[in-house]
Amino acid sequence: MISKSTIDQVYETARLEEVIGDFVQLKKSGSNFKGLSPFSDERTPSFMVSPVKQIWKDFSSGKGGNVVAFLMEHEHFTYPEAIKYLAKKYNIEVEETERTDEQKQEANERESMYLVSEFAQSHFAQMLWESELGKAIGLTYFKERGYTDETIKKFGLGYCLDRWDGFTTAALDKGYKLNYLEKTGLTIVKEDPKNPNGSRKFDRFKGRVMFPIHSMSGRVLGFGGRILTNDKKAAKYLNSPESEIYHKSKVLYGIYYAKQAIAKEDNCYLVEGYTDVIQFYQRGIHNVVSSSGTALTPEQIRLINRLTKNITVLFDGDAAGLRASLRGIDLILEQGMNVKVCTFPEGEDPDSFAKNNELEDIINFLQQNSKDFIQFKASLLVEEASNDPIKRADTVRDIVNSISKIPDTIKKEIYIQECAQIMNVSEAVLFNTLAQIGKKDIAEASKKAKQEQKAFDVVKNEPVPEKVDVQYELERKIIELLLLYGNKKEEFEDLVLKENEDGDLILEPESLEVKVYEKIYLDLQDDEIELANQHFKSIYYKLIEQLNEKEDFAINTFIADLDQEMVTEISSILMEEEKYVLHNWESKDIYPKDKIIGVSQLVSETILTLRCFLIKRRMETLQNSTEDNFEDNSETLEEIMNYLNLNKLLNKKLNRVLS
Ligand code: CTP
Ligand code: MN
Repeated sequence: MISKSTIDQVYETARLEEVIGDFVQLKKSGSNFKGLSPFSDERTPSFMVSPVKQIWKDFSSGKGGNVVAFLMEHEHFTYPEAIKYLAKKYNIEVEETERTDEQKQEANERESMYLVSEFAQSHFAQMLWESELGKAIGLTYFKERGYTDETIKKFGLGYCLDRWDGFTTAALDKGYKLNYLEKTGLTIVKEDPKNPNGSRKFDRFKGRVMFPIHSMSGRVLGFGGRILTNDKKAAKYLNSPESEIYHKSKVLYGIYYAKQAIAKEDNCYLVEGYTDVIQFYQRGIHNVVSSSGTALTPEQIRLINRLTKNITVLFDGDAAGLRASLRGIDLILEQGMNVKVCTFPEGEDPDSFAKNNELEDIINFLQQNSKDFIQFKASLLVEEASNDPIKRADTVRDIVNSISKIPDTIKKEIYIQECAQIMNVSEAVLFNTLAQIGKKDIAEASKKAKQEQKAFDVVKNEPVPEKVDVQYELERKIIELLLLYGNKKEEFEDLVLKENEDGDLILEPESLEVKVYEKIYLDLQDDEIELANQHFKSIYYKLIEQLNEKEDFAINTFIADLDQEMVTEISSILMEEEKYVLHNWESKDIYPKDKIIGVSQLVSETILTLRCFLIKRRMETLQNSTEDNFEDNSETLEEIMNYLNLNKLLNKKLNRVLS
């Protein structure tokens, strides 16, 4: 268990906008930041981060919460994983309280797999730098590739000794369980034909140099291992198998090192493998990732899409694989990204080109040779099919197919015009083809559109519900006021009954300086008002308790102890206004409430309105009951009169507040 004081310290130190900024490109928007939702494929920003409130809200998926909730949602961390991640980011020492044996056993399986992988990474690095064979074979190999010590350390490269179970034995000696070694694929366990009760264990990566693969947040998920001998039967590169922590289709090699540069440069270079990424990085081009052997997947593109809209795919000099690779690019277009391609001279790949040229030359080369993907593809196809009319027809369909993937209609049209020129066909033909393809896709597209529409409707309808539940809205407002200003000392003006010189009772203003939460609590208690909504009610009591206990109440720490449902509720409350900003509702004549009026006024107005509302309702019920009941209702009538007077008084106060 992580100690409470560590958790507190983490919450106090972590800045939400910094943590989220590592995953989502955030732009300042008023006092907030906004960005593309990392939880959906939306193309307009609907993700809001409030540095003041230390809360985020994603209006497209409805998710929201504090810094830990973000890491749990986005990185699929468990709670302790999220705390540890933050502690690491902010250099906070994690203090662990003693665990019982039972707790030890329960310790999260995934966490154990991460730990095994981290150990493996440091073990392989140690072998590379410290063992004689590691230095002679592994380190020498990396040096020959031109990697500097700094680069080798930065990427955590290593070497797995050429022994059957060197690594496995070391891990078991350190107390790591065979179960997790097997689950991460680091160890292969086989039955022992000689001993039916025993098993034989092998290091998967025996005799290979090791490239650790990191998540976006820098945890080791798996490895790629390159063989160093010329053994034709063994695969040149071997990768960790799919596991609970390593999902190939969702990982990009290098993304941890590249993410900041990608956002900053607003472009991402996509290369083929480990060696290209590392060589580029060493040369000083840091916004580079690879999908490592496998074809690019939509999830991988989404990782990039969160950081930039622009991607440049780099191809080897040999044209062999080019045609096939071009298909994969349609996936990138589908996500509304701008795609460029760049091919290297014959016989060169990004790795060798970066190794053999200076940074300036590489940058110049990339600038001069990066071509818009559609234009590039059109020219390439035209060249190939120049003398073959049937092939030309195919080509037209091929290119229009790519264009049809682009979500933006204006862009689509521009591309049609350009391709008509490049391919020397009329625009009409291309538009026709586009329409044909469109018809085929129409069922799918409309299905998707409906889903998107639905998601938007939820957001759109929320602030203008057809029938407003006044009590609900007021209770919600009270929670908001407590969260935002609970600890603030404010001057409240109240009307109190006083005797004047003539002995008459009159209402006189009296001002009183108290904290907002005290005012709210005392006023509601006065009328014995309980919040009706069960969520609000429990949040309310928790809030009052904490505000009463802590001088330095902070939303951030408050939320830490609540369950997820409440956290979601609270983030919706706090981010309510931001929704207006987000969707530009000003232009649709729906204005958020004017925030210029003071806190004390807002508090008084809210409480008084709630009290008036409840009294009015109480009177109505009483009146109804007198109608049903013809016998003695003098008591009830008296009660109604009391309420009427109270209501009058409250209304007077309210008018005073409002004027
Ligand atoms: N790659 C891979 N699996 C393979 C072959 C290649 O994942 N079976 C990836 C690797 O990430 C590698 C990149 O593709 O970095 C480039 O491939 P290649 O040039 O064949 O690998 P190198 O290690 O550079 O080999 P060589 O020294 O022969 O160029
Ligand atoms: Mn190579």
